[in-house]
Amino acid sequence: MTLMCCDSSSNGLTPVNTVRMVVDPTSPPLDLEIQLSSAADILRCGGLVAFPTETVYGLGANALDGQAVARVFVAKGRPQDNPLIVHIACLDDLQAVVAGVPDDALALARAFWPGPLTIVLPVRGGVAREVTAGGDTVAVRMPSHPVAMALIRAAGLPIAAPSANISGRPSPTRADHVWADLAGRIEMIVDGGPAGIGVESTVLDITSSPPLVLRPGGVPVEAIRNIMPDVCVLPQHGTGSAAEGGEQEGPARSPGLRHRHYAPRAPLWLFIGEWEDQVQAIACRARAEAEAGRVVGLLISTETAMTTSKASIPDTAVIAQTGSRGRMASVASGLFDAMRRLDSEGVDVMLAESYDTGGVGLAVMNRLVRSAGGRLVDMGRSGRK
Ligand code: TXA
Ligand code: MG
Repeated sequence: MTLMCCDSSSNGLTPVNTVRMVVDPTSPPLDLEIQLSSAADILRCGGLVAFPTETVYGLGANALDGQAVARVFVAKGRPQDNPLIVHIACLDDLQAVVAGVPDDALALARAFWPGPLTIVLPVRGGVAREVTAGGDTVAVRMPSHPVAMALIRAAGLPIAAPSANISGRPSPTRADHVWADLAGRIEMIVDGGPAGIGVESTVLDITSSPPLVLRPGGVPVEAIRNIMPDVCVLPQHGTGSAAEGGEQEGPARSPGLRHRHYAPRAPLWLFIGEWEDQVQAIACRARAEAEAGRVVGLLISTETAMTTSKASIPDTAVIAQTGSRGRMASVASGLFDAMRRLDSEGVDVMLAESYDTGGVGLAVMNRLVRSAGGRLVDMGRSGRK
């Protein structure tokens, strides 16, 4: 396939022809690099390529090219004060983007890279200031997905890549999700099948003392604590106020928290409490919504779906299963896809179950709380509903 270099001076609103390229992630690494040479050319010419990572799909641009990175913000409709993660393929590449590599960073890299941990470090000159939103730190990670690895290697560049969704929408875990959001805005989508983990990387700031998890993600905080016992977790504002733009400690430390995130089109209500109480309350609320003429989407686990009798929920309710409560990795993996499925069914309102916050459950609950944007039904606080 011959591809023209895109015009990197384009403001990104001019429609572009989006090429979808399917690759087999199980191909040998060198074959993948060859298959991805046209995608790498696009990146080198200042274009935008969406690609799978082990967490979610990313929207890549050359991290050293300010104009290319600026197009990422336009294509996503992303606020410019929200910096991007730089993706690298080997430890040597780290020196090119950060001002120094402290021992802590090396220990973390050895333990978790390649993988879903993003480390915030002092930035080095040469990284486009658009990447860091003008700040003096840069967030870096080495993804473990073979397609992401091969693309970075083939391009020979550090790749700045936010999640490949329209800003504020649930992150994409499949190429179809990226297509739905970004077709006509970016040059290429590399389809390497579903992303595995399903929630984004853990963002860990080690420029602060103590080190701070700014965003829970694919690497559990418990695992980081084994390497860094003093690590803290930034309060995630369970009321959703941060997602609405509150200027509290969280948003000041983590620019991403200033903005509404992970939001499906339909309002999402999150039920919190003992599982049995949640099951009852969700069914009861579903009936009330249906009586009011609304189509309800249920974002629930396989266990809840099995427990909820057909008689207890309205006929018109649409069920999207996240995964099994007994296997939180499956819930993480299915969460955003389930939200997007309910949206595409055109439901008027979503009712979502909550989960334990151990391991990757912390990231799942963080995304659900932020999707709800303050719409919490807390059976602990307000009694059984
Ligand atoms: O798994 C992931 O992290 C995915 C894949 C594509 O790698 N990427 C991703 O990027 O989720 P994005 O842009 O959707 O989220 C990046 C988060 C944002 O909350 C942003 O504010 C934060 O990382 N971030 C980026 N640079 C930062 C910095 N220098 N200091 C603090 N937070 C930073
Ligand atoms: Mg994102």
